Amino acid sequence: MLIAGNWKMFKGPAEARTFFDGFEAPADVDVVFCPPYVSLGSAVETGQTIYAQNVHWEPTGPYTGEISPQMLVELGVQGALVGHSERRQLFGETDEMVARRARAALEAGLGVIACVGETLEQRESGDTELVLKIQVEAISFAAGAHERLVIAYEPVWAIGTGKTATPEMAEEAHAFIKGLLDRPVLYGGSVKPENAAELMSQTSVDGALVGGASLDPDSFAAICWAASTS
Ligand code: PGA
Repeated sequence: MLIAGNWKMFKGPAEARTFFDGFEAPADVDVVFCPPYVSLGSAVETGQTIYAQNVHWEPTGPYTGEISPQMLVELGVQGALVGHSERRQLFGETDEMVARRARAALEAGLGVIACVGETLEQRESGDTELVLKIQVEAISFAAGAHERLVIAYEPVWAIGTGKTATPEMAEEAHAFIKGLLDRPVLYGGSVKPENAAELMSQTSVDGALVGGASLDPDSFAAICWAASTS
């Protein structure tokens, strides 16, 4: 099981350090933290596995505001999220950009958690599988079933809304994704200590990508324990 905490635009370096002082996870769960860029350095110092929340595809260049895979490697960061729905929806990232980010990060030796998921409108109009197919195939075409690639299924309507996909809905979407690309699939969207165990017990759910509930050491640890077999 892999449990990743996406801190989004929360926790500067000092707050990040405080979090780690109060956090302990079970040994049989792989735990990844995705702090904001400015907190990556202090997070790496704790010895935890640290991923960035995004990554550019070029090693260097005139790309104001972007960070390259090589820069992350130099810092001791082990991977990056790509294609989070907030990047896609608020910052105009396309499937092509997400695919380029994923491939460059993998080529630089980083792990990648690539996010896919449908909006409420797409689900209600019956387009969930079509949307997932387009998003997953863009990543798959660029990166293949790379051993350091993980997919995160995050239905957009479940992110930060308190609405969680039912375990059956998650299972169905995960099985569909695995049919397109044979890699582990994390579930994301309002994962909390109360619903984590049931979601994680689904056959095709290989872990979770947690936003809000990863900001508190106790609630994030509780989710990690729910994913533990020990
Ligand atoms: P949430 O966010 O757990 O707060 O819904 C998940 C995510 O955006 O990765």
